[in-house]
Amino acid sequence: MTVSTLPDLPALAEFERVFLPNIEEDKTETLEEYLKVGGYEAVKIALAKKPEEITEIIKDSGLRGRGGAGFPTGMKWSFLPKGAHPRYLTINADESEPGTCKDRPLMEQRPHTLIEGIICSCIAIESEKAFIYIRGEYYKSAKVMQDAVDEAYAAGILGDNVMGSGKRVDVVVHRGAGAYICGEETALLTSLEGYRGYPKLKPPFPAIKGLYDKPTIINNVETIVSVGWILKKGADWFKKFTHERSTGQRLLCVSGHVKKPGVYELPMTLTLREIIYDVCGGMRNDHDLKFIIPGGSSVPWVLPEHLDATWSMEGLAAVGSSLGSAGMMVMDHTVCPVWALANLSAFYRHESCGQCTPCREGSAWLQKIVMRIERGEGEEGDLETLRAIAGTGPNTGMICGKSICALGDAAAWPVSSALNCFWDDFEEHIKTKGCKYKNKRYWMQDDRFVNETYEHKPSWGHH
Ligand SMILES: Cc1cc2nc3c(=O)[nH]c(=O)nc-3n(C[C@H](O)[C@H](O)[C@H](O)COP(=O)(O)O)c2cc1C
Ligand code: SF4
Repeated sequence: MTVSTLPDLPALAEFERVFLPNIEEDKTETLEEYLKVGGYEAVKIALAKKPEEITEIIKDSGLRGRGGAGFPTGMKWSFLPKGAHPRYLTINADESEPGTCKDRPLMEQRPHTLIEGIICSCIAIESEKAFIYIRGEYYKSAKVMQDAVDEAYAAGILGDNVMGSGKRVDVVVHRGAGAYICGEETALLTSLEGYRGYPKLKPPFPAIKGLYDKPTIINNVETIVSVGWILKKGADWFKKFTHERSTGQRLLCVSGHVKKPGVYELPMTLTLREIIYDVCGGMRNDHDLKFIIPGGSSVPWVLPEHLDATWSMEGLAAVGSSLGSAGMMVMDHTVCPVWALANLSAFYRHESCGQCTPCREGSAWLQKIVMRIERGEGEEGDLETLRAIAGTGPNTGMICGKSICALGDAAAWPVSSALNCFWDDFEEHIKTKGCKYKNKRYWMQDDRFVNETYEHKPSWGHH
């Protein structure tokens, strides 16, 4: 994993990286090192304020959740019912959205920035207990976070007398077991309680009835890290780089066919063109850009004609997509869009928890049909069937808006947007019973992916 430096762009003059400023090497910052660079100053600031004053600062900063939906953080906090205690803070560190890998370096390289944000947030929402729910596969993140939590307890930063204030904040590090659905907030809470990670219908929202039926705030790792920085540096500092209602910096994860993939800390004011061609050094081998999945696998795809869109929540919404969890996957002209979609559809079918029929059955139909088109066995009418199932946009088709949680929509959106972007490619696969793209390392055999070494390649093959 790289945490990459930035080019000399006029748009980045005066921009200051704070989350991961110069940590190109994979190194964990200790408590001692963190204290030397002003660590836990934000906690002192928070301790000197009333809880509602902190919430006002966060509202004023315009901070919106970094987990995917972009909900305003201060507003979410103010939904907590007055006087209802105990109440909990839960940190969503499940980070399973394909293309997203930003919470991991935050936890593994600067764990104390997360603990600092947690304490500030607990003071703001009047909670004495926080849980960090970490993706099961992130063994190192869990270990680093637990060590940092232990360090903070030993130093009197956590526990029943936070920095000598008499306030209590306890932090529990909890490991998930590797299910994508446990990143969905209600599934996460159910899993944290020890049950199978099934999402629940909302309302009631977790702020009213959450963990153990108590009021609970769930925020993403990066959201909570941002809270600490906002308190330390002020809401105006956070708003200095703003595009419409997208304030502050965030970590962008770029993967795919750019020369310099990596995790970049950026303001939401650059265009997609500046990100791909300046920040990431352009396309690999100077190939043509074919499409971009700009915000993690669940968001609609965008095309080269959208390169001048601003990388912000509003900028991407204006071109029919979303900034999501800021995991940007860039594909060059060698990528078969049918193959890419088959890959994604297999993921969603596998990760559907199966509770509700539109998502369970719909994601399976989508996968089966896309995969048979990719295998050269597509039939006339398949594209119309895909459209009928996945719809043509939000709240259309058989799945969107008709399931308990947003995974159903997430399974359908890539299909409808791939068809909108590359209908001709899909049609050609069906008509020619083959595929003109030659660089695939994996094939689909029935509903599984197999690699070159698999003996039963489809007869038309890819070489
Ligand atoms: C299927 C699914 C998976 C999700 N996975 C994550 C995740 O891994 N991390 C995350 O922070 N949010 C994830 N979310 C969003 C959470 O439900 C929730 O909106 C978020 O944790 C709220 O935090 P925020 O307001 O700070 O963004 C997921 C949502 C869905 C529907
Ligand atoms: S939409 Fe899918 S993942 Fe979400 S609850 Fe329903 S079946 Fe489960």
